[in-house]
Amino acid sequence: MKTDKRTYKDATTLNHDKRESAHGAVVPPIYQNSLFTFESWEDIDEAFNNKAEAYIYSRLMNPTARIAEDKLAALSGAEKAKLCASGIAAISSAILHCINAGDHIITVKDIYGPSNNFISKYLKNKFNVSSSFVDGKNIEEFESAINDKTRLIYLESPASLKFELQDLQSIASLAKNHGLKTIIDNTWASPYFQKPLELGIDIEVHSVSKYICGHSDVVAGLILSDKTTMDAIIQSEHELLGAKIAPFEAWLILRSLRTLPARMMMHQKSGLDIAQFLEAHPAIRQVYYPGLESFPQYNLGLKQMNGFSGLLSFELDTDDIETIKNFVDSLQLFSLGVSWGGHDSLVYAPVISYLKELSPEHFKAMGIVPGLIRISVGLEDAEDLKQDLDEALSHIRN
Ligand SMILES: Cc1ncc(COP(=O)(O)O)c(C=O)c1O
Repeated sequence: MKTDKRTYKDATTLNHDKRESAHGAVVPPIYQNSLFTFESWEDIDEAFNNKAEAYIYSRLMNPTARIAEDKLAALSGAEKAKLCASGIAAISSAILHCINAGDHIITVKDIYGPSNNFISKYLKNKFNVSSSFVDGKNIEEFESAINDKTRLIYLESPASLKFELQDLQSIASLAKNHGLKTIIDNTWASPYFQKPLELGIDIEVHSVSKYICGHSDVVAGLILSDKTTMDAIIQSEHELLGAKIAPFEAWLILRSLRTLPARMMMHQKSGLDIAQFLEAHPAIRQVYYPGLESFPQYNLGLKQMNGFSGLLSFELDTDDIETIKNFVDSLQLFSLGVSWGGHDSLVYAPVISYLKELSPEHFKAMGIVPGLIRISVGLEDAEDLKQDLDEALSHIRN
């Protein structure tokens, strides 16, 4: 084995594997086993002395998962990473780790729906955890929401649907001054374009199902933090809630990590191209994309991210549901479906699910109009994607 102490740029870290245990195989193997055996009583005894680092049982740790976790930790500037069965498993485990019954959480109003439900309904009903949902754009809002029960500030930046940002460095320093923990859902930017731990955030979570995996073939999650925090999470929430990653899925994630930088650069290039095309189109009222110079928090984005991904939303210049339906159904290259961040371009209209759960008035009060459309710009040719959108937009008639 070659020993190498140099530090490398992200693309090198993600594309270079140590080959010592795999007969020189260019790709690490899938350790498809549930448990690990030991030569002697002393050996297993020693493993139990260091449970968070030992291979004992694949619910806790598996070598294929560990290779992917080490790469994800190096990419994110974390001391340790843990892959989970889903993004929401990572989110709920990380939040549970930071709070006790009766505590108070500050979060932002546009976080992913199930994260909102977990905080505002599940934790409230089961554990009397209270929460304040702030707009998120001003540090003063966070400061004035702090009370003597506050333990955690939970962030998502850029946040879901309209992609508003929070100032991560200022919030991290406010939290430290008040002895609060911070968690961020960093799924939109991916750890390639945003490194919140380097800005002072305590714990980073991801839906790996999106850009990190990027091929629409895995549902998985990720928690990143310092070693002490991660070892505590691994031996409490992760072990006891059983949200483990399967070895094959960990291997698919490892495969995906090799192309993460190349994919993110292409998502960014096409995302910006399409956002600019939509912004100039007469059938569009408004485009929400942090990479546009017209985006109100564009400069904050440049300060805390190294790039912008390919998920954006826009408002059609109509509120007529039949016209909106017609637009969505006319698209040929954007498949209609939930989720995002894969090779394949997707379209989704939040009105589809929101109107089943909320009144039209509530929907409006959230600042979401029926014609809000979210697209995930995939890896197809951007000219083809623009042509597809242009043709479907020709169906918009006022
Ligand atoms: C921003 C964000 N965070 C978390 C999740 C949850 O991830 P998963 O579906 O992998 O549980 C999603 C899923 O859509 C999401 O959009």
